[in-house]
Amino acid sequence: MANRSRFLRLGVNIDHVATIRNARGGKFPDPVRAAQIAAQSGADGITAHLREDRRHISDEDIARLTKEIDKPLNFEMAATDEMVEIALAHRPHACCIVPEKREERTTEGGLDARANFARLAPIVKTLADAGSRVSLFIEPDPAQLDAALELGAPVVELHTGRYCELEIAGEYGLRDAECERIARAAAHGASRGLEIHAGHGLTFETVGPIAAIPELAELNIGHFLIGEAIFTGLEAAIRKMRNLMDRARAQAVAEPA
Ligand code: PXP
Repeated sequence: MANRSRFLRLGVNIDHVATIRNARGGKFPDPVRAAQIAAQSGADGITAHLREDRRHISDEDIARLTKEIDKPLNFEMAATDEMVEIALAHRPHACCIVPEKREERTTEGGLDARANFARLAPIVKTLADAGSRVSLFIEPDPAQLDAALELGAPVVELHTGRYCELEIAGEYGLRDAECERIARAAAHGASRGLEIHAGHGLTFETVGPIAAIPELAELNIGHFLIGEAIFTGLEAAIRKMRNLMDRARAQAVAEPA
């Protein structure tokens, strides 16, 4: 099968270090220091979302992350002229286009790549021409994957938020069905040549079944890791997540379903 891979990359999202900093103003805690620790603790890349309202990551954080971190930066951004300009100024390794406004989303929360096709097409091209690997954060819905393919995005990130919410709600049957939906979407996209990532809401409890999906190449995880760092430290939290991912993937590759 296309794109089956034993290795699964971990992108650590450091947005919520900036959330804590911004609660007080000032400089501490520094998200760039968190990115440095993440890079030394098993992260393969750093993810940061510069939101239009700058509620966590700042423009200066993005400038420093591109200069001071020697792991690939995945720049999460809305599909706006302002964000495209910032991406072109910094040329991050990757740009992940995410919805910020309600009308840009599907019913479940990912970017509606079909409904926003005309707006996304020139943005995907501009970012790709500038050398960034472009991904679209979408629902695990074959129609959305097909729209991403038509848009020329080489990567999609599948939204795991619903899967994680069903775990929290104790709806284990529905959770497993959602995990199956993510697996089917990953296989659908990989068989058509897309690189498949996933993320949102993942925890130590929920990461295993997602990491076991062999077509997935990368997971992006933030909020839970930053929260866990309060109790155990960031390095220990990342190392544990990395181990859980690697174990689930190794087992899935050794014993395919
Ligand atoms: N992937 C994307 C595209 C996101 O927007 C986010 C949240 O910023 C994440 C992954 C990480 O989600 P969480 O912080 O819940 O782990």
